[in-house]
Amino acid sequence: MSIWSPSSWREKPILQQPTYPNQDELNSVLSELKNYPPLVFAGEARSLTSQLANVANGEAFLLQGGDCAESFSEFHATNIRDTFKAILQMSVVMTYAGGLPVVKVGRLGGQFAKPRSSDTETIDGVTLDSYRGDIINGVEFTSEARTPDPQRMIKAYNQSAATLNLLRAFASGGLADLHQVHKWTLDFAHKGEINKKYEDLAEDIEKSLKFMAACGISSKTHRTLRETDFFTSHEALLLPYEEAFTRKDSLTGEWYDTSSHMLWIGDRTRQLDGAHVEYMRGIKNPIGVKAGPSMDPDDLVRLVNTLNPENEAGRLNIIVRMGADKVGDDKTGMPKLIRAIEREGMKVVWSCDPMHGNTIKSSNNYKTRPVDAILTEMKQFFQVHKAEGTFGGGVHLEMTGKNVTECIGGSFVVTEEDLSSRYHTHCDPRLNADQALELAFLIADTLKEAKK
Ligand code: PEP
Ligand code: CO
Repeated sequence: MSIWSPSSWREKPILQQPTYPNQDELNSVLSELKNYPPLVFAGEARSLTSQLANVANGEAFLLQGGDCAESFSEFHATNIRDTFKAILQMSVVMTYAGGLPVVKVGRLGGQFAKPRSSDTETIDGVTLDSYRGDIINGVEFTSEARTPDPQRMIKAYNQSAATLNLLRAFASGGLADLHQVHKWTLDFAHKGEINKKYEDLAEDIEKSLKFMAACGISSKTHRTLRETDFFTSHEALLLPYEEAFTRKDSLTGEWYDTSSHMLWIGDRTRQLDGAHVEYMRGIKNPIGVKAGPSMDPDDLVRLVNTLNPENEAGRLNIIVRMGADKVGDDKTGMPKLIRAIEREGMKVVWSCDPMHGNTIKSSNNYKTRPVDAILTEMKQFFQVHKAEGTFGGGVHLEMTGKNVTECIGGSFVVTEEDLSSRYHTHCDPRLNADQALELAFLIADTLKEAKK
């Protein structure tokens, strides 16, 4: 294989990139970014790899979730806090009711660049560049907004830094203390069955904590009761930006992408001879690769060999996103991928993205996802793993702690008519906190079942 460098991807064919009108301005922004402080440290990325190795070995569960696309306009402390709380709630449900530690990774602090199915968008006879995420261009349908602007990378960096700063404070400054388990409930949460279930569980946890305190184990004595590890991730799509943050770790001499703890390759940019695979093979962060319905088992094996040649557990996460009607299909779905990976003795984390294969248009023209299809894909994912004797180790969700109406269904039924009331996403429809909590209980039941 040819020699890797942070810029060797530039020699390969690349998809899904903007065309910047002013190359000089682009280059000057990139040289500025190269001097900016890293957002994460290599040691943190290594710690995530080792936690993901526990997932690969069936001893922990991965919860990865957050916005489809972060945006400049929705940048508020309350949004970050509420997504963080929703992830904590889900995670405590899975840990307590499912009996496994949960590795928490946000789609946050850098999830700005979006792959699009078409390069352009036409409205009323006017054709403009598609919106590619706030790090590239603006969502408004004007020629000015849609023109790629390199200065947006600097704004995205600053927003990521502030987001990460707040997440670190939440994770270690008291909000994540298990004694706060009741306070993670979001203000708008419906007082129905799911939240009652959560309240009951929170009460059980409080009782256990009191008992432990009587035995001398408390937040004061045990860091793990008062703090949590929370990691960030995003799709490594905009490679000039990622290259600018690729730094050599002074302790090991290895290269890390310091823009995030974990990075993944999208389903549209996973070509074996393409630029994205080239870039990702050389960084030491834990990485993911999306596997949609067109993923061929032999191609997957080649990809895994390229991305994880040392077969290191925790390095690589295969994020399956096939759709509820496809994932379980014995011939064309996930079983053939699992068998190929098992045949080769490859160590990977399998996670389920039940979002991207289940996107539909509602009759009133909203891009939405039925919660039923999401639940069905999840159930199928776990059933297939059980049948194959492997471990379905994680979920990858587009969700928010906000009270949005973007996905239809769930126990507090959001209808097609409701979609227009609070539809805020810049890209794909997200689960709201009620819907996400419902999913967490389903996962917990499945984990409990799998342990029997
Ligand atoms: C995404 O995760 O937002 C995304 C675009 O996913 P995929 O690459 O699986 O389509
Ligand atoms: Co998406």
